[in-house]
Amino acid sequence: MTWSPQSWRSKPVSQMPNYKDAAKLDAAIAELSARPALVFAGEARRLRRQLADVTAGKAFLLQGGDCAESFKEFSTEGVRDTFRVLLQMAVVMTFAASKPIVKVGRIAGQFAKPRSADMETIDGVSLPSYRGDSVNGPEFTPEAREPDPQRLIRAYDQSASTLNLLRAFASGGYADLHNVHQWTQDFVSDSPAAERYAETAARISEALAFMKACGIGRDSAPSLEAVDFFTSHEALHLPFEEALTRRDPNTGQWYATSAHMIWTGERTRQLDGAHVEYARGIANPVGVKCGPTMQPDDLLPLIDALNPDNEAGRLVLIVRMGADNVVKNLPKLAAAVTKAGRKVVWSSDPMHGNTHKTSNGYKTRDFDRILSELEGFMDVLYAEGAYPGGVHFEMTGRDVTECVGGAKTVTEADLAARYHTHCDPRLNADQALDMAFRIAESLKRVRNNNSAANAA
Ligand code: TRP
Ligand code: MN
Repeated sequence: MTWSPQSWRSKPVSQMPNYKDAAKLDAAIAELSARPALVFAGEARRLRRQLADVTAGKAFLLQGGDCAESFKEFSTEGVRDTFRVLLQMAVVMTFAASKPIVKVGRIAGQFAKPRSADMETIDGVSLPSYRGDSVNGPEFTPEAREPDPQRLIRAYDQSASTLNLLRAFASGGYADLHNVHQWTQDFVSDSPAAERYAETAARISEALAFMKACGIGRDSAPSLEAVDFFTSHEALHLPFEEALTRRDPNTGQWYATSAHMIWTGERTRQLDGAHVEYARGIANPVGVKCGPTMQPDDLLPLIDALNPDNEAGRLVLIVRMGADNVVKNLPKLAAAVTKAGRKVVWSSDPMHGNTHKTSNGYKTRDFDRILSELEGFMDVLYAEGAYPGGVHFEMTGRDVTECVGGAKTVTEADLAARYHTHCDPRLNADQALDMAFRIAESLKRVRNNNSAANAA
């Protein structure tokens, strides 16, 4: 049972790249081990406290960002735009839920991707599968597809630059509540769904004006112009994570310092596997993806391995079942967790279970199916007496055409125009904000039902 940052090495490990030269990998890992932590234990503890509020039903989690970050598409504008849309979503949701929104980006470290096969074959040529920019390149050439340990250093460097930007945006004035709401008003006046969203936007404006009249402004309330913004990614590349696992001198606990929160994917969540072994020993908040075939007998032992002391704020269950399956398979999981009294955050990833190929060959996701999984998720958890506490999106701040639907409808024929992802299809900025307004409608319904129930 003893744990160390290396103890995962004695367990079966899936999804590892085949590096040709082990010495080069070791050298890269040694270099990373000497680099500074990207995030700090105190920050991860702060996120845990905020997630404990989610567990208690007093806050709501918003997690989002790219499916995979890329070296080539890295830019200040890209980071800024994703951050901006997440904040816009957060304002709308804060207002609708009357609860703080815990803000977590899928960013500054989301580089490694699990694959269903080690090799990819095109026209009789077989090459290693693309496993994310921290491992190899997406181009189908022998050079690009060869796993290169130096890419881990580059992923670290890009994560550090990204975090530096995010920290500046979060506290340097950019995140000012009034600014963010002004952008949203511009979005609403431009949206085909303007009528539907105008009332919420107008009520937020009124609330801000009321606060101002009461003397609550930047000077009296610094929290209006800054946000806590956290980072997260899938802890897939274990040598990389090991190199950035550090002991907190204040508490003696081990922390992943590659991000505030990490999660274990649907393909790597085996109870006796290396990825769960790694996750169980760090003190950060951790997530586990829960797919459509998961049974209570899989889930409860995982919960106990990852959160043996049943602490609130430690564990986030990220449900990704698909719109049809969520209403069939989530009830038994929710019932089992509630009955066992386990403290978890239930979050919905409505993206990964709703991917399909179009007749013109694009991998896409339909806005309405995504929304339908979200609503199914909320209905199931309320029916089981549990709290639907969060959402997890693949999204970007840019105007891409990767998912179909939304108020400014993207059609299958539009997909070719700006299909930029080299991984899964993401909601674009408009679709993401549309989604926030739709979630706001659900959250408001819930709030009204609760106050009716309390009054009765
Ligand atoms: N600091 C508060 C919060 O994070 C209020 C706030 C300021 C805010 N700027 C924001 C909320 C931007 C959402 C988005 O909740
Ligand atoms: Mn994805």
